[in-house]
Amino acid sequence: MQHFISIAEVSGSWLNQVLDRGLALRDQRRKGQAHVPILAGKSLAVLFEKPSLRTRVSFEQAMVELGGHAIILGQEGVGVGQRESVADVIRVLSGMVHGIAARVFEHSKLVDMARYGSIPVINALSDYSHPCQALADVMTIMDEFGRAIAGTTVAFIGDGNNVARSLATICGKLGMNFILASPPGYELEKQFVARIMSHVPSMSFEITQDARDAVHYADVVYTDTWVSMGQEAEAASRKAVFADYQVNAELMSQAPAHAIVLHCLPAHRGWEITDEVMDGPQSRVFPQAHNRLHAQKGLLAELLAPGSK
Ligand code: CP
Ligand code: NVA
Repeated sequence: MQHFISIAEVSGSWLNQVLDRGLALRDQRRKGQAHVPILAGKSLAVLFEKPSLRTRVSFEQAMVELGGHAIILGQEGVGVGQRESVADVIRVLSGMVHGIAARVFEHSKLVDMARYGSIPVINALSDYSHPCQALADVMTIMDEFGRAIAGTTVAFIGDGNNVARSLATICGKLGMNFILASPPGYELEKQFVARIMSHVPSMSFEITQDARDAVHYADVVYTDTWVSMGQEAEAASRKAVFADYQVNAELMSQAPAHAIVLHCLPAHRGWEITDEVMDGPQSRVFPQAHNRLHAQKGLLAELLAPGSK
């Protein structure tokens, strides 16, 4: 059984299959053609330990559009690991629904779900990674530069966080170059970089402290919040540490004119990104958010109805 807990565990060809499926479903939707209800009779539990707009709506809408059903579960109701152990929660769900997408603090909860359950487990964001976001990011890059994205350079400016990890990994899997510009102490861990490089020795993966250097050859300039969910107590100190890592017009003047700007959202306007850039001509952040729906439809089709057409 296939899970989608991290990009590292799936192949580049499987990722391309998911993206192809998502793009085909998007085309159909845009033409107003009805989808074959490939998920009829299937339900997805979607569990949230943290807030969400895009992930929640895109999973529910994706299930509905493919003929299935989503059951949204908030942490206060389920109490995974508090009211009931992770293992018992997933054993129960395995007999009732056909898959689970879960947004959790500890990544290990997802690994435990896969271990004790018998349904596909999808990572809807953990403190460690956000692979569903990376699928939509790549779809947006393909929209801009065409299906052949190998050789494209993505510069991530800011925190070496969950979104950066999944994006770096998908870049490696699909032949893109990745540059991370972070303040000292907020880079991606050396072990993480070593692991990606051992899987994809040919990958170009650079880490710098200089945001201006990082964007020089970038086709894509990407940023995310400086304060991820769960880090709220560090907001003031992080704001000071990341001050030189804002994606603003001055930074964009150092990037090629064709570069696009991506952000997984929610954005903290005036912190990691200015209004001018976010609402400017290089920004693709809203099509990127909309691609969450299309990429997830591809993902759900491949995971819950493999082999369907
Ligand atoms: N990008 C993203 O995952 O958004 P939400 O937190 O709103 O789901
Ligand atoms: N890094 C952010 C991403 C939000 C979608 C967080 O974890 O809060």
